[in-house]
Amino acid sequence: MAGAEALAGVEIWQVALDRSADMDDYATTLDDRERARAAGFAGTAERRRYLVSHAAVRRILARRMRVRPADVRIAVGRHGKPYSPERPDIQWNLSHSGELALVAVAPDRSVGVDVERVRPELDRAAFAARFFPPEDVAYIDRSPERFALVWARRESCVKAAGGRLTQGLRLPVSGPSPQLVRDPAGILPGAWLVLDIPVPPGFRAALAISV
Ligand SMILES: CC(C)(COP(=O)(O)OP(=O)(O)OC[C@H]1O[C@@H](n2cnc3c(N)ncnc32)[C@H](O)[C@@H]1OP(=O)(O)O)[C@@H](O)C(=O)NCCC(=O)NCCS
Repeated sequence: MAGAEALAGVEIWQVALDRSADMDDYATTLDDRERARAAGFAGTAERRRYLVSHAAVRRILARRMRVRPADVRIAVGRHGKPYSPERPDIQWNLSHSGELALVAVAPDRSVGVDVERVRPELDRAAFAARFFPPEDVAYIDRSPERFALVWARRESCVKAAGGRLTQGLRLPVSGPSPQLVRDPAGILPGAWLVLDIPVPPGFRAALAISV
């Protein structure tokens, strides 16, 4: 499966996290694990972002599952990927960076999403040269925007696989969007259709869906 077919039924939601809101309202739809995590944030802004993003996930899934947000059951996989155990037909993933979150939902196929803030202040050239494949280093060419994009593409694959960041560092992702990505070293088994997602200026984002 490739191209448009792989994207049939896929939804991508953008969520603004810094809205003023009654945090108690958001908390009521979350489960005990989510509430405990929310309580662990020292800062109010971080807690609010957590509550808003996770309540949004529940609202989006509830609509698709035709249940109440509080009744969406969420379990967590080996490396921390949340999923809905009773509904393997509804795969989803969340990403957040600063005040922006993305939620991707896909029927039956593993999906990963990643949003990254562009950070011009960081010189990631040495990091890229050490870990990324040479074609990705050449594509980045010291551009912070391209670094953020390449990072988002790579992390979206890792997240689709439910893996760990370190497993995806050598994935080649500098092709044109959409592209088919595989790990030549086989560290992260699978194949993904990866495409760039339009997000507000200052961010870059990508979606990966298993094919
Ligand atoms: C998965 C991972 C790449 C996400 O990194 P991140 O910079 O926090 O990125 P995002 O904001 O895009 O994603 C966070 C969300 O993805 C989901 N998520 C968490 N672990 C995940 C995984 N292994 N695969 C897919 N999705 C995952 C959660 O919904 C999480 O939201 P929450 O933290 O608010 O619950 C990174 O946390 C990782 O490598 N985890 C594996 C465990 C590990 O090695 N942790 C050490 C930190 S590197």
